[in-house]
Amino acid sequence: MLKEPNEKLLIIDFGSQVTQLIARRVREANVYCEIHPYNAVDEDFVMNRFKPQAIILSGGPESAADPDCPKIPEAVFELKVPLLGICYGQQVMIFQLGGRVEKGVKREFGKATVQLRRPFSDDSFFSGLFARGEEQVWMSHGDHVACLAPGFKAVASSPNAPMAVVVDFSRQYYGVQFHPEVHHTPNGARLLRNFINLAGFSGSWTMQAYKDKAIQKIRSQVGNGRVVCGLSGGVDSAVTAVLAHFALPGQVTCVFVDQGLLRQNERDEVIGIFRDHFNIPLVTCDASDEFLSGLAGITAPEDKRMVIGQLFADVFRKQAKLIGGAKFLAQGTIYPDVIESASVFGGPSESIKAHHNVGGLPPDLDMELVEPLRDLFKDEVRQLGRELGLPSSFVDRHPFPGPGLAIRCLGEITSKKLDILRKVDAIFIDQIREYNLYSEIWQAFATLLPVRTVGVMGDGRTYEYACALRAVTSVDGMTADFYRFDFEFLSETSTRIVNEVRGINRVAYDITSKPPGTIEWE
Ligand code: XMP
Repeated sequence: MLKEPNEKLLIIDFGSQVTQLIARRVREANVYCEIHPYNAVDEDFVMNRFKPQAIILSGGPESAADPDCPKIPEAVFELKVPLLGICYGQQVMIFQLGGRVEKGVKREFGKATVQLRRPFSDDSFFSGLFARGEEQVWMSHGDHVACLAPGFKAVASSPNAPMAVVVDFSRQYYGVQFHPEVHHTPNGARLLRNFINLAGFSGSWTMQAYKDKAIQKIRSQVGNGRVVCGLSGGVDSAVTAVLAHFALPGQVTCVFVDQGLLRQNERDEVIGIFRDHFNIPLVTCDASDEFLSGLAGITAPEDKRMVIGQLFADVFRKQAKLIGGAKFLAQGTIYPDVIESASVFGGPSESIKAHHNVGGLPPDLDMELVEPLRDLFKDEVRQLGRELGLPSSFVDRHPFPGPGLAIRCLGEITSKKLDILRKVDAIFIDQIREYNLYSEIWQAFATLLPVRTVGVMGDGRTYEYACALRAVTSVDGMTADFYRFDFEFLSETSTRIVNEVRGINRVAYDITSKPPGTIEWE
């Protein structure tokens, strides 16, 4: 029986969009942590079942100036462990301990500078920080702490947050108005690490430990049942398949569905890779007719996702019967799929898209889901993939969404449009490889726009489709920036596309970051 790590950190979620980033930073410091919503944390959990060595309180959309705001469970204070409140977490902590929070007149979003107000005697929380008396941070708040709770001191302030960093050294309670977990707070990871160190963690937790725990969890969920694992050719489903296979040798059948929405040569490549590297039973289903006719006439992005979810479910149900009644469906849902599909008040934050392997599956699926990657980010999935022995040529592939080209063929989907899109995409990726840029870019792809534009080719008028190219840098897909290609690359790529792909006469390059855009166009 695998031993549970005994050094644990608890993150209490109040519904921030970026709570999972706190978990990432903690895991990057090799400390085991779990996120639990504030309303699921009771005395028994804190005192007996989880027994954290430190607690972080996330941000959230509510206002600690409202008397009915979501509260920190009292057991958290009774436990007497180091506490770090972030944004809403700071405000509600100060409020519950006897201070006051006010609704701000001005909201503060984005970059801010926090200045040190009083010298502190070498406290480990500030180690390496405020070297020049200030820190650049990322703020996102309307309210602020107006009156401190007994025992606290304000250590730093920004123009809109007079209590930007507050500390009660004797209880080891810390509060920051800004978000140390995001990349835009350059020394944020350092601050979180300082908190982790002062809480006495040894920092010995690893991805190998995660793998062992995930295997144990799959075994206890599935027992001696049979599992169908949906394989998309992407990294997430491959890692899920290998993990499930390690956990339950002989009980897992992979199903690769060709839904007619794959990229050029993708079917052969995926089957090849799986055949060469793994010894897991693999069934390939050609369901392209069903998918294309099911999607005919559908233009709204969320409708496409729902239809695709239904169709996948049909295929998996059928396959489950064929292999003698599999009751479990393993799929590669990762954290960004969860957070962007669900809405800590019933689920995490506001719904952005129904990622097909989360929001798009029908409620009557009749199969229990096995989702071992549900709380990992993409780069952590890749790390786990390497830990499981997957080749880096596979693990380092750009992400490809479950609904495939359906969400890149904007508007109505037809096989003719899909063919055009495949050709454009293949040229774009070929150019990126040719210029040795593939590993610098987090994800790159083409979309086909549902508009035709006028052009001139040779001496004649053309009236053809326009396409847009998208390439982004990112760490985890939660935020992203467009990749800065040089103009020579863009010019050569656009010329190749227009010359080589019949049906396209215009190429655009998408220069939107996320937010405000998302990575995929639909
Ligand atoms: P967005 O477009 O939400 O995408 O910024 C973030 C990352 O998730 C991928 N993505 C999906 N992956 N099923 C998936 O498995 C989906 O429905 C889905 N939608 C988007 C997207 O390609 C990017 O890597």
